Amino acid sequence: MPYAIRKAAVIGAGVMGAAIAAHLANVGIPSLLLDIVPADAKDRNIIARTGLEKTLKSKPASFYSKRGAQLVTIGNIEDDLPKLAEVDWIIEAVVERPDIKQSLYSKIEQVARPETIITSNTSGLPAHLLVEGRSENFRRHFMITHFFNPVRYMRLLELVPTADTDPALLPFMQQFGTETLGKGVVICKDTPNFIANRIGAYGFLSTIQRALDEGYTVSEVDTILGPNMGRPKSAVFRTADLSGLDTLMHVANNLYKNAPEDEQRATFQIPEVVQEIINRGWLGEKSGQGFYKRVKNADGSSTILELNFKTLEYEPQPKHRFDSIGKARNLETPEQKVSAVLNGEDRASHLARETTADALIYAANRAHEIADNIVDIDHAMCWGFNFDLGSFETWDVLLKDQALLDKVFAQRELPALVQQVRSQGDGTFYRTVEGQKQYFDYHTSTYQPVPTAQGVISLSALKASPSSTGSSSVVRDNGSASLIDLGDGIACLEFHTKMNSIDEGIVEMIHYAVEEGSKQFRALVIGNEAPDFSAGANLFLVLMGARQGAWDMLDGAITGLQQAHQLLKYSPIPVVAAPAGRALGGGCEMILHTHHTRALAESYIGLVEVGVGLIPGGGGCKEFLLRHGANAESQKPGKSSGPFTPARRAFEIIAVATVSTSATEAQELRFLRKTDAITVNRDVLLRDAKADAIKLADAKEAGTWQPVQPQMLLLPGAGARLVLEQQIEGMLLTGKISEHDAVIGNHLARVLTGGDCSPVTPVTEQYVLDLEREAFLSLCGTEKTQARIQSILQGGKTLRN
Ligand code: NAI
Repeated sequence: MPYAIRKAAVIGAGVMGAAIAAHLANVGIPSLLLDIVPADAKDRNIIARTGLEKTLKSKPASFYSKRGAQLVTIGNIEDDLPKLAEVDWIIEAVVERPDIKQSLYSKIEQVARPETIITSNTSGLPAHLLVEGRSENFRRHFMITHFFNPVRYMRLLELVPTADTDPALLPFMQQFGTETLGKGVVICKDTPNFIANRIGAYGFLSTIQRALDEGYTVSEVDTILGPNMGRPKSAVFRTADLSGLDTLMHVANNLYKNAPEDEQRATFQIPEVVQEIINRGWLGEKSGQGFYKRVKNADGSSTILELNFKTLEYEPQPKHRFDSIGKARNLETPEQKVSAVLNGEDRASHLARETTADALIYAANRAHEIADNIVDIDHAMCWGFNFDLGSFETWDVLLKDQALLDKVFAQRELPALVQQVRSQGDGTFYRTVEGQKQYFDYHTSTYQPVPTAQGVISLSALKASPSSTGSSSVVRDNGSASLIDLGDGIACLEFHTKMNSIDEGIVEMIHYAVEEGSKQFRALVIGNEAPDFSAGANLFLVLMGARQGAWDMLDGAITGLQQAHQLLKYSPIPVVAAPAGRALGGGCEMILHTHHTRALAESYIGLVEVGVGLIPGGGGCKEFLLRHGANAESQKPGKSSGPFTPARRAFEIIAVATVSTSATEAQELRFLRKTDAITVNRDVLLRDAKADAIKLADAKEAGTWQPVQPQMLLLPGAGARLVLEQQIEGMLLTGKISEHDAVIGNHLARVLTGGDCSPVTPVTEQYVLDLEREAFLSLCGTEKTQARIQSILQGGKTLRN
């Protein structure tokens, strides 16, 4: 039967349940959030209410925008159970106790509609056990949907059907999870703790055991097994503290109990010393101490101490230096880093080799049992634990280097699956054929394409392979940017500088894309595959120019950027921006000049120039004023609240370098338009942006889209500037801002209010651009601005001088 989810219910308003309800709200799905009624409660919804309130305050934020909370209706399972008949999907996220879950299901069964989808968020209880005693229809519509914490940010969603699950439900939930919730979906077999927590728990516990046996300290392990081994900064012990040692214990106990055949079962017995700290209630972040403890110093600063396993006292963390880690730090890719650490001769390399060998052998031996293919295992590790490389991608680092393979597995036998890929495959688990990534399918010993979401556009694959016509898809490449043919008359302007900062090459490519590209293409998409759309203008060049007093060069660079942005705005073909991650400063200015934006939900957009002592100089002030209603047309009498309102609003947002925490919030701040679109899944952002571009190109051909006509702005002039300057002065006198903040603020106020213009006579765009440029250059000349830029370039820290 066809499924659709328009409304949901989440039962259990704890850490996970409330955050799942928040994420449903993020994607526009209303939900009921129910929990139990505590004895003698005056407020029968108190638990759900508290759960929702906590989620509203959670950091990082669970909601894209706090307004999303309006889509969550709280209630309790005693009074509101009949309301479950109104929903299409019921998600159970109550405590990890099979008896409680089962008794809840028997109640749900009595009220839910027969076709309602029912899922559990259990971390590892077997699905078939949870539905024991339920009707055939219930079992048909049941599966596990295992979200990871924090729900909004962790990409992994594990789906676990049972033998009784409707075969049509799995593809539906897979599609829904990918396209609507934006998750990386992995399908798991119904085995204890599924994929990520099975392999992950083994990795954590075997590492902890080895550290204890061989005398490695907490901070030593985290230094070794962090980013230089392709792991997150929180590495092993800090990650355990973040997830909670009690959670780790539940997962381990569940495995010990339910996986009796596992040859590594003994590893799931919690080591004595870890059990002792759990008994003491040192559960990690949530109880203020675990493997680490943060303490306040007399001067108000804080220090993070580490646990000494021998004394169970907390002590200062020494700095650890290892040659192998130092070497890896300077390398680019995770493969290179992992290889450097594993190849070393020091204590760090020894631990890395032993723990890697343990984990890789375990993954290879478990693969058949827990997953249908190696890709699901790798995805689970990368999306569930933020690893750079999955287990089999790491295997490939070794399989491509016989000497390293021998070194890591010196005393150990290679698992059967590895022998299979060596004897019956090409010797590695993955290979790339004509830009297409393929994996070794262990059922057939053949290579199959790595599955991707429908219609995914891969710029790297396009660049690696010729287009359908046989010619290259790359129309032009100048080192900083490329123009790539996406097919269907759409081109993509891709940046590929460091952090995608905007330099002369990008400016040149914008000129080419609009002036030449518009002759062969119907529309242009600006997007890339990097984590961040753009970190802004290349500050290094700005600082060099300023230090050398090369004012003509700087003036030329700013003018060039302004002109490039104006070109985009007045382009004869539609231009669609496709930001993801950070789009700051110049990156934000560029978006403001396009005709439409297709943003990733996780977009952090802002005009942050004041942080480096500048103001937006590439047309950002001008466009942001227009976004807030400064267009002379909309300023006609009776149509607006006057020319001061847009200037004041823009000032409030730019003066404190506001960055949106999501695309939804970017719309509220007006960095994005209400009509701009949002995609939740990073993999399909370019696909969706291209589809939007095609629509605009069609509209152009149908005469319903026309290039932009020059705009005039009505700005309030010097009177309004005085008002803003007084506010700035007030903040300076009360110590809220520094003197240089005030200098920058005054420049910004001057630009946004239109300098000395008349409040009744509209000004041209060029007039505002000139004000921007003047203020930008003037600030570049100040020592304090130069110091701010240098601070960002050196350490990434904002200097409040
Ligand atoms: P939690 O302890 O924060 O919340 C559980 C909630 O369930 C509590 O609000 C409790 O009042 C409620 N509850 C208990 N019995 C109930 C009943 N009969 N009806 C309605 N509500 C009831 O637990 P958390 O962490 O949110 O976990 C919930 C589920 O999600 C568990 O199955 C857990 O294994 C799983 N999970 C937890 C993750 C985590 O990191 N915390 C990650 C992924 C899954």
